[in-house]
Amino acid sequence: MKPQIAIVGCGRVGTALAVWLHRAGYPVCGLSSRRLQSAEAVAALIGPRPCSQAPQTVTAEADVVFITTPDGVIETVCRQIAAAGGFRAGSVVLHCSGALPSTILAPARQSGAWIGSLHPLQSFAAPPLDRNPFAGIIVSVEGDGPALQTAEALAADLNAHPQQILTEAKALYHAAAVVASNYLVTLLDLAFTLLQQAGVAPRDAHGVLRPLIDGTLANVARIGPAAALTGPVARGDAETVVGHLEAIGAKNPESLALYRALGMATVDVAERGGHLDAAQTEHLRRLMEP
Ligand SMILES: NC(=O)c1ccc[n+]([C@@H]2O[C@H](COP(=O)([O-])OP(=O)(O)OC[C@H]3O[C@@H](n4cnc5c(N)ncnc54)[C@H](OP(=O)(O)O)[C@@H]3O)[C@@H](O)[C@H]2O)c1
Repeated sequence: MKPQIAIVGCGRVGTALAVWLHRAGYPVCGLSSRRLQSAEAVAALIGPRPCSQAPQTVTAEADVVFITTPDGVIETVCRQIAAAGGFRAGSVVLHCSGALPSTILAPARQSGAWIGSLHPLQSFAAPPLDRNPFAGIIVSVEGDGPALQTAEALAADLNAHPQQILTEAKALYHAAAVVASNYLVTLLDLAFTLLQQAGVAPRDAHGVLRPLIDGTLANVARIGPAAALTGPVARGDAETVVGHLEAIGAKNPESLALYRALGMATVDVAERGGHLDAAQTEHLRRLMEP
């Protein structure tokens, strides 16, 4: 018999967990959210369930409670549920934050529950109905022993790969995920803007860049970032960099600081990859200075 799951916070991750744990055979025994309609929207996806704005009414009977609110309120919500007697002794309480330790769930532990965190290394942007967003991804887990075991079993049943992480390493691990996912989006946004200013229609921007992006990712996967670096910085081509700085300065001066900051970091990568001699490195660093 699989453990009964309650979800508190029916946003992107809470919805994905409810839908895919339900499909994996877990009984989802209750849903709670700040707005009742968010909990009811999830119930509409998995079938009628108790829905409430008072989380303790759906968590009290659960074997596993997920608190999938925004990071900033996980601790407060946990404390409120504990104060209302909403955690059963021996149950497991998990949050999904990549950055925060499981210890922010201490009020649940004081109620006799085991606490842990289960962080899916995935970007949950849209309702996850057609494709399992957990399939094949890494889910980092940490916490009390029994919570860890439960989190690993849940991750495996979601077709993800559970991986234990040190509680104190979570912030750096999460920073890596933010750089790889969120900052990549920001980089592509800048690239799309520059393309548009070069006369490419916005609807074509993605198609124009896609083969370049795919090829770059494949090269990094095959030979690592330092060896995969190509382009003017890797070639020590300062004149081209000067041309970029002039063009961006004329059309898009607010982006110069980002171009230069990334350029400076790229000079470091090029140096590490043995692409540049000392004079080229020095010249490029001067160009990239803020
Ligand atoms: N999104 C991702 O890609 C991603 C990836 C990995 C991990 N995570 C983690 O997953 C967790 C949830 O993130 P998310 O992206 O799913 O956030 P989200 O889409 O903003 O959803 C959070 C939900 O929490 C509800 N909520 C807010 N305050 C609440 C409260 N006081 N009590 C009860 N419910 C409350 C909101 O409710 P209403 O809708 O009812 O207003 C909202 O639906 C976070 O810890 C985040 O770090 C997110």
